Amino acid sequence: MPDWLITGCSELLTLRGSVPRRGRALRELGIISDGALLIREDRILAVGKRHKVERLREARKAEKRDLGGCVVLPGFVDSHTHLVFPASRADEYEQRISGKTYEEIARNGGGIRATVNAVRRSSPKALLERAGAHLREFAVHGTTTIEAKSGYGLDWPNELKILCAVQQLHQDQPLDIVPTFLGAHIVPPEYRKRPDAFVDLLVRAWIPTVATAGLAEFCDVFCDRGAFTVPQARRILNTARACGLVPRVHAEQFARTGATWLAIEVQAASADHLEKINRADIRALALSNVVCTLLPGCSFHLGLPHHAPARELIEAGGIVALATDFNPGTSPTVSMPMILSLACSQLHMTPAEAIAAATINAAYSLRQHGRIGSLEAGKYADLAAFDVADYREIPYYFGVNLCSMTMKRGVIIHSTKP
Ligand code: NIG
Ligand code: FE
Repeated sequence: MPDWLITGCSELLTLRGSVPRRGRALRELGIISDGALLIREDRILAVGKRHKVERLREARKAEKRDLGGCVVLPGFVDSHTHLVFPASRADEYEQRISGKTYEEIARNGGGIRATVNAVRRSSPKALLERAGAHLREFAVHGTTTIEAKSGYGLDWPNELKILCAVQQLHQDQPLDIVPTFLGAHIVPPEYRKRPDAFVDLLVRAWIPTVATAGLAEFCDVFCDRGAFTVPQARRILNTARACGLVPRVHAEQFARTGATWLAIEVQAASADHLEKINRADIRALALSNVVCTLLPGCSFHLGLPHHAPARELIEAGGIVALATDFNPGTSPTVSMPMILSLACSQLHMTPAEAIAAATINAAYSLRQHGRIGSLEAGKYADLAAFDVADYREIPYYFGVNLCSMTMKRGVIIHSTKP
């Protein structure tokens, strides 16, 4: 593997500085104008002004790549995805446009259940191929690490099928995939009349087995109206913690249930969605180390007017991250640049805040901030280049992909130029 000297970065967004970012620090991008990076194998060896990096001894022998005036930033860290599923739910999209709500469709057997049925009918090979194709699209949009949840199998063979697919995709690369067990996505049809028996199964068998086999690092629960209650989620997440899995929570998306306080109580890495939180929740989150992962793709795709109170969370001192929530029901997008556009126009985050939320704070929520999320010597050479003159143009131009190069651990995995 050659060393790389990357120049032609009109703005190099290093994101160096405090981790996690709270309050005003969320705007600090550590920008170097006319910057350069020196890369050895999978790591960053040096980062700084071009004239300084070029003078380093190692730079002389390195392979040179002049990006010709791009904005370069750490590869996006997408900390909330449901990567593995076999088909879209475009039929439900059309039903919603005609007036049915997401929750109505779910109550009538559609929604997550429709995808669960489809997963159970799919071969591991078909699931892998589709997820692999989606992964390549993530890379094309500048993402270099994603989290991926199970939760569309909901019986043991099919949860295992998804977790093994995630493991396989991580081994095959090019992206790093951090696995999360979401056995508690909804109560599966066969336990509809006895949800607590399903929770028993999760805490007595599935969670300990997933943890012992090293099939996941995190354990998530969809704690909301129509899914799991706070007491059920508490049992699940306390068991997960005891087994060495770090909790995450789908919280307060459709109704305020108290899932936020549970996330704080079980020291979750992240509480995700948060569209329905109130002022007391905001204050509690701000005093905690739980990352507030906002997913503006959902309200956009579902056509809902409610958004998470991003400004209040940031101003109170909460740790805010952004993610796609890539899934076939509520947010079928792999595009972090689109999420940045939504964060700016709908959540009133500034472009700088959105970028920090999608890189360093997201890395923190995955406990990966020592290796990724910023461009600093010693970290992985995970970066994305955008064909724009000013970083604010990344969210400004929406609906187009301006990512011209993605590098993962020192390997160029996407490039629009030879
Ligand atoms: O994060 N809310 C729960 N899970 C997903 C939706 C999954 C689906 O509809 O298939 C979400 O929005
Ligand atoms: Fe989700």
